[in-house]
Amino acid sequence: LKARMIVDKDFAISEVDNRIYGSFIEHLGRAVYGGIYEPDHPEADEDGFRKDVINLVRELDVPIIRYPGGNFVSAYNWEDGVGPREDRPRRLDLAWRTTETNHLGTNEFVDWSKKVNSDVMMAVNLGTRGIDAARNLIEYTNHSGGTYWSDLRKKHGYKDPHNIKTWCLGNEMDGPWQIGHKTAEEYGRIAVETAKAMRLVDPSIELVACGSSNTQMPTFPQWEATTLEHTYDAVDYISLHQYYGNRNNDTASYLANSLDMDHFISTVISTADFIKAKKRSKKTINLSFDEWNVWFHSNDADKQLDPWQVAPPQLEDVYNFEDALLVGSMLMSFLRRADRVKMACLAQLVNVIAPIMTKNCGGAWRQTIFYPYLHVSKYGRGIALQPVVSSPKYDSKEYTDVPYLDTMTVFNPETEELTIFALNRSLEEGLELDADVRSFEGYQILEHIVLENEDLKAVNTMEHEAVKPHTNGNAKVQDGRVSANLAKHSWNVIRLG
Ligand code: AHR
Repeated sequence: LKARMIVDKDFAISEVDNRIYGSFIEHLGRAVYGGIYEPDHPEADEDGFRKDVINLVRELDVPIIRYPGGNFVSAYNWEDGVGPREDRPRRLDLAWRTTETNHLGTNEFVDWSKKVNSDVMMAVNLGTRGIDAARNLIEYTNHSGGTYWSDLRKKHGYKDPHNIKTWCLGNEMDGPWQIGHKTAEEYGRIAVETAKAMRLVDPSIELVACGSSNTQMPTFPQWEATTLEHTYDAVDYISLHQYYGNRNNDTASYLANSLDMDHFISTVISTADFIKAKKRSKKTINLSFDEWNVWFHSNDADKQLDPWQVAPPQLEDVYNFEDALLVGSMLMSFLRRADRVKMACLAQLVNVIAPIMTKNCGGAWRQTIFYPYLHVSKYGRGIALQPVVSSPKYDSKEYTDVPYLDTMTVFNPETEELTIFALNRSLEEGLELDADVRSFEGYQILEHIVLENEDLKAVNTMEHEAVKPHTNGNAKVQDGRVSANLAKHSWNVIRLG
């Protein structure tokens, strides 16, 4: 197989908003308890946070982390999670049918986010609650003082406001599984009124309205149109969520799922722009892809769990090598639309469908998907460039005309580095890449990172990291052309400078 591409500094799509490398921590399973917070762990710091986990999160350089849910937020009383720990109530968490101890809440999460150098994307409960709880919460977190809620924060030991800038107006409100599920009309109304009240407390915030829970929702994309009819002037972003799984063991189709993702993104952009035109608005709504990942390995195990446990293992997908390939491909979908996708959250970060796994009282390790996420977070900052690609294609059971080569390029003006991300989707053959990089005169290969494995189903465990990158790729440059052999089913990061 042979593929050609042209990369040019002038083919700029947009500056990459680093927040597309965000992630998500929900009160779910062992994400919080046993994941980020485990006071009895030998690696726990003075606040009970696991230092081994903090180090792995720092390695990923995650700019923003969504909290506290997810489905969890739709029945959450935020007041339960603040104040003296001994006074906090244990509650039934109806979303995941567990017991929530509330040992960690808003203030502690903000503390932890600072330790990992990340901002917080806070979600408010528009399921069982609404305007009142949301305006009180933002008064608690963002108002300087002299009022009931801001003074309560001070009493709880936080003199300065947290100044949380980014807020989600509920979660997946289109989903019948959501507690307090709403029609698009109902959601549009409560979202716009909540946005109004929250902005009156703090006009500097940015707000995300709930879009569809996935492309298969029967209400997609009418949901986006109707809710934006109500909320267009009051919000800044519309959310997208999507998870994939290789349930039929059809890897050729599985690796092509980013085509569906591209289609999802462009449909939401079109829908938002349709409402913009209808409203004769000058404002543009951008996209927050605030839940995305592979999620299916743990579905059956989760059905066997006894209810009302505290922090049981839930959604603990053990990712394999082919999952890592798809995750790399999904990240490239965001870069392709860097002009409109301004935030995205890998769902999630620790233990729950996560790149980082831990054992309670034990070690922490990197799942296979850790690596493409790390690579794009690290080298995908700067300006997204549109490559002109000519690649052979294949048909699978679920997709037609799938390019074997999935690629995106980013130029970082600060380091003056050019990075080519490239996935070879072929399950049988290597791919010879010929990239014309003529506007990058004198550039040499800095590194050709490769994630490859004969076994598509290889996984990493605490004891053994079977899937990890090496830097022995054979990319070279001659006369302004990069040539490289991309191994069959491999993820490649070719760095030039
Ligand atoms: O990330 C896991 C769950 O997936 C979230 O709680 C929910 O929003 C989505 O359905």
